[in-house]
Amino acid sequence: MCGIVGVLGRHEAAPILVEALKRLEYRGYDSAGIATVNDGDLDRRRAVGKLINLQDLLVHDPLAGKSGIGHTRWATHGQPNVNNAHPHKTQRVAVVHNGIIENFRDLREELAKQGVGYETDTDTETVALLTQSYLDEGLDPHDAATRTIARLEGAYALCFLFEGEEDLMIAARKGSPLAVGHGDGEMFVGSDAIALAPMTDKITYLAEGDIAYITRDSLKIIDGEGRIANREMRVIQIDTTSVDKGGHKHFMAKEIAEQPSVLANSLGYYIKDGQVELPDGGIDFASIDRLTMVACGTAFYACLTAKYWFEQIARMPVEIDVASEFRYREPPISKGTAALFVSQSGETADTLAALRYCEGKADKILSVVNVPESSIARESDLALPILAGAEIGVASTKAFTCQLTVLAILAVKAAQDRGHMDAAQAAEALEKIKSVPALMNQALSLGERTNDVSKLLAEARDILFLGRGPMYALAHEGALKLKEISYIHAEAYASGELKHGPIALVDKHVPVIVMAPRDALFDKTISNMQEVMARGGKVLLITDKQGAKEAGDGVWETILMPEVDPFVAPILYAIPAQLIAYHTAVAKGTDVDQPRNLAKSVTVE
Ligand code: F6R
Repeated sequence: MCGIVGVLGRHEAAPILVEALKRLEYRGYDSAGIATVNDGDLDRRRAVGKLINLQDLLVHDPLAGKSGIGHTRWATHGQPNVNNAHPHKTQRVAVVHNGIIENFRDLREELAKQGVGYETDTDTETVALLTQSYLDEGLDPHDAATRTIARLEGAYALCFLFEGEEDLMIAARKGSPLAVGHGDGEMFVGSDAIALAPMTDKITYLAEGDIAYITRDSLKIIDGEGRIANREMRVIQIDTTSVDKGGHKHFMAKEIAEQPSVLANSLGYYIKDGQVELPDGGIDFASIDRLTMVACGTAFYACLTAKYWFEQIARMPVEIDVASEFRYREPPISKGTAALFVSQSGETADTLAALRYCEGKADKILSVVNVPESSIARESDLALPILAGAEIGVASTKAFTCQLTVLAILAVKAAQDRGHMDAAQAAEALEKIKSVPALMNQALSLGERTNDVSKLLAEARDILFLGRGPMYALAHEGALKLKEISYIHAEAYASGELKHGPIALVDKHVPVIVMAPRDALFDKTISNMQEVMARGGKVLLITDKQGAKEAGDGVWETILMPEVDPFVAPILYAIPAQLIAYHTAVAKGTDVDQPRNLAKSVTVE
């Protein structure tokens, strides 16, 4: 959460910072701000809300200078108002921060004893005040920042800019990602390489504990042990058009529509000549006894779906948990366990911490990620890219179906490695997965129909989602998608669990969305649906034509899906779940791509 950027440039910094912040806005949009140093003086501009407000402010009140830092905020400490917006600044130093300084209250008390007052509710201001106090003691910027960083506990990506220093930025990373970009006589800092893409493709990623001392023509990195570190500079390929809506009204709409083609990329990458091919030596599941899968949010629902696949087709015991619980549960990890972490961003703090918990305990650490340069990818023994391309809409769509696709392919490999499928059966299962992009194209043509239904759903205050087997996971994903962008309260239940309590919620005001492909559990799901209808519940049934016929009369609304093999139905049924959420949010007029209170990349716990 929060995006940070810095530039020591050859041109005016403000427009460059704003352009980079546009690309980081997915990390938070509670406020935005920039600071520059010009003729030796530090100055800043800050605005509440989206970046556009800062842009408007800069039109009326521009900020000169070729060196600057910028920030887009997802509030952790202190309300999202101008006063709490970054950069935080004293007379001699300005700071932007992503993360949480856990000992800020202690530091603040210490400073208060020296007569230093504070003006904001933020943890970050303390970093600026502490640095200023060291500068006042006579330390130079280099030493003042270094000493400050040594005092900080918690997680941070930081960038400092100093009064009178137009050729110096100091950046530090612990727990939050940070990249340094190399230009031609210019240097940049960014929370990720995407932010820096228009300026440079030459990137050095800082490692945990690194401090970078940056001038226009030099980069010195000191590691957490105080030694000079040589970090590799990589040339990164980033699609600079990826932040374009491509003619769609929202990024989410574009990303939903892209799914058949991005899925085809994943399929081509992992399936060669009817066999699974994994990068970097892959993994042999024959040597693995059990799988522990950990993730957050939508990525967790991908794990929940995959649990059914791994257990059913590969007969592999699978434990799953949300990362925020897993890491503090201190679960024993027995020998023969592979730990698998799923994350679009690859930077989710809880998922990364869970991965680190498994280091040295699990036989193998795997990750399924969208950002190949991310911390989770880099810290895994085997990182499996999902190849979804940049996902900008805060609500995950194409990353989810690509995660499912990679996990389904992995489950087939596990089944084959463990002797539960022969080569011909594996090839047949892979063919089923390969059929999904074409079916998705058909499902996407349901846009109009889901739009009509969503206008009705937009009136509801509460909505229930039901499913059995892997569709239970999809019910969760549908409910999450709906609540996060339409703000309608939605809950998911396993169809068979409804009568154990939640059915008390059912009345004519609560739409119940039943996700029912014709699989082995179809009849049971339909029986549960009948129980809802018998109590006056309004059922929206999502199934295929034959399923609708077999379900009989009395259903409130039906969405007719293409026929699909039950194995891959969860991937396909993500489409109506996403379309319903999208159209309901549009009908309600919410901010689809940047829903309130959320951020795309959750780098705090
Ligand atoms: C929901 C959504 C979130 C993320 C979760 C994990 O639409 O996007 O629930 O899935 O924050 O993020 P990653 O996958 O980046 O670890």
